[in-house]
Amino acid sequence: MGADHMPEFLPPWRPLLRGAREREGRSPAARWLQLATVASDGTPRVRTLVFRGWAGPTGLDLLTDGRSTKPTELAHQPTVELCWLLPKARSQFRLRGAVIQLETEELQREREQHWQRLTPGGRALWGWPEPGQPFEASADFPEELGDNVPIPPHFQLLRIAIEQAELLELTGHPHHRRRWQAGDGWREQRLNP
Ligand SMILES: Cc1cc2nc3c(=O)[nH]c(=O)nc-3n(C[C@H](O)[C@H](O)[C@H](O)COP(=O)(O)O)c2cc1C
Repeated sequence: MGADHMPEFLPPWRPLLRGAREREGRSPAARWLQLATVASDGTPRVRTLVFRGWAGPTGLDLLTDGRSTKPTELAHQPTVELCWLLPKARSQFRLRGAVIQLETEELQREREQHWQRLTPGGRALWGWPEPGQPFEASADFPEELGDNVPIPPHFQLLRIAIEQAELLELTGHPHHRRRWQAGDGWREQRLNP
């Protein structure tokens, strides 16, 4: 993301999110979040994705298949909401933001880094036939893509610039709800739960 948009410090919700994620231990589900988008007809869409890491204090990386439906939705309406449930901490994080466009060179570099970090099994999905199309039993669904396989053109990085975070904790009485907004210097606002 553009360095000029990036705060130097970590917004206060980031350590809270890290703490809640740590309480999940090694559970893969601690990296699952829901991405909500708006389809071109104005109706909502939501699905689960794997959190792939931070890009600076407020950039959140996701990986997807460029042939799936969501990239088209995001081209039309780049604002999103993410919902991240961390059950052990009884915490729900709702993150609002927008998909940002990276410069070509940076995008290639970042895509390559993400591709290298994936296991051959994790990469395999990008070797499968087009998502959402009718299933054909004769089609090839590889179980792995090795290091020698070039990065498929539809291996897509979604970088979301987070502009608002909201945390609801179902701990104690009453429940604890807080909100932070980038436009407000990430000042903490306590809200009724
Ligand atoms: C646990 C879990 C993790 C998933 N992780 C991803 C992911 O990281 N990226 C992705 O594009 N789809 C992921 N999916 C599949 C999506 O939920 C969705 O089915 C797919 O991306 C097609 O969505 P679309 O038709 O809205 O574009 C995951 C599904 C599950 C159940």
